[in-house]
Amino acid sequence: MKIIVTGSLGNISQPLTVTLVAQGHQVTVISSDAKKQTAIEALGAAAAIGSIADVGFLTNTFRGADAVYAMIPLSFTEQDLGAYMHRMAQNYAEALKEAGTNRIVVMSGWVADLVKDENVEHVFDNLDASITIMRPGSFYTNFYQSIDLIKGRGFIGKFLTLRYSGLWALLTGKTGLLMGNYGGEDRIVFVSPKDIADAVAEELLLQPQEKTIRYVGSEEMTCNEAAKIIGTAIGKPWLKWVLLSDKEMLQGLKMAKVPEKLAETLVEMQAAMHSGKALENFHQSKPKMGKVKLSDFAKEFAATYHQK
Ligand SMILES: NC(=O)c1ccc[n+]([C@@H]2O[C@H](COP(=O)([O-])OP(=O)(O)OC[C@H]3O[C@@H](n4cnc5c(N)ncnc54)[C@H](OP(=O)(O)O)[C@@H]3O)[C@@H](O)[C@H]2O)c1
Repeated sequence: MKIIVTGSLGNISQPLTVTLVAQGHQVTVISSDAKKQTAIEALGAAAAIGSIADVGFLTNTFRGADAVYAMIPLSFTEQDLGAYMHRMAQNYAEALKEAGTNRIVVMSGWVADLVKDENVEHVFDNLDASITIMRPGSFYTNFYQSIDLIKGRGFIGKFLTLRYSGLWALLTGKTGLLMGNYGGEDRIVFVSPKDIADAVAEELLLQPQEKTIRYVGSEEMTCNEAAKIIGTAIGKPWLKWVLLSDKEMLQGLKMAKVPEKLAETLVEMQAAMHSGKALENFHQSKPKMGKVKLSDFAKEFAATYHQK
């Protein structure tokens, strides 16, 4: 099959490309960075260099493809995340329609239907194509964004470490905190991007008649259990995941100069996880869990943590 993978060599798209190439498919990977061309070709795929903001580029790249994996990269520089996501989803929808693509697998998330402005799943509804929406849980790779916080570095880290239960950690020199407006004893579905890639690879080859939604997870546990696994791997078994209120989280993000609308969106997404509704929806869909345990990922995480 001729398959288009968006998301460059990102967390999901790299292992997805490797799998699809190994299965003998003709894969084209979209990247906005010309410097990635060699690395994409080294995987046995073709590179299409351009932006998902460019409908003409997308249309030309999608023409003749049997299936497309469509993802919208998160942007932490956009003032209004919801508006940006709608723009990119519209771009995809326009290009997929124009190119006449029959099979589309769209990356979404397990809180998508619980947040007001950011849910773009409906943008794909009017396409005359077979559509599957992927709703993965919280990525293991998100822990990489917390390395500075765990090390007690960074503005939000310092502010909140002083203000909350990290005082003990600071006094004893045992810096080590994760935090968010979900955390503590909240039960969360964590997921390895490799397991998501396997699920997307499976879906791209199917052709369901009806629009389908597929939840993806690797392991469910409380945030503090996750902190223990990550903490133990890096030699900080006391690592805790502090649960903040929505207001505190918003205040911290504002102090870190995150644009206001974007900060509100991030708080809303995390609140959907804290509420337990995302977990309820996940359980209702009864998906089979993936193979990669958090303890497997923690070894990779530890190697990166100690290099930084
Ligand atoms: N993190 C979570 O917990 C979570 C949970 C649920 C759902 N999700 C969803 O999962 C997706 C993230 O997937 P991922 O982690 O595999 O992605 P990723 O690792 O962030 O990679 C995305 C890649 O897209 C490329 N890109 C950025 N802007 C582009 C543009 N304008 N045009 C073309 N390519 C561009 C970049 O590579 P180049 O520099 O090479 O272009 C970037 O590395 C998002 O849609 C997110 O909403 C995430």
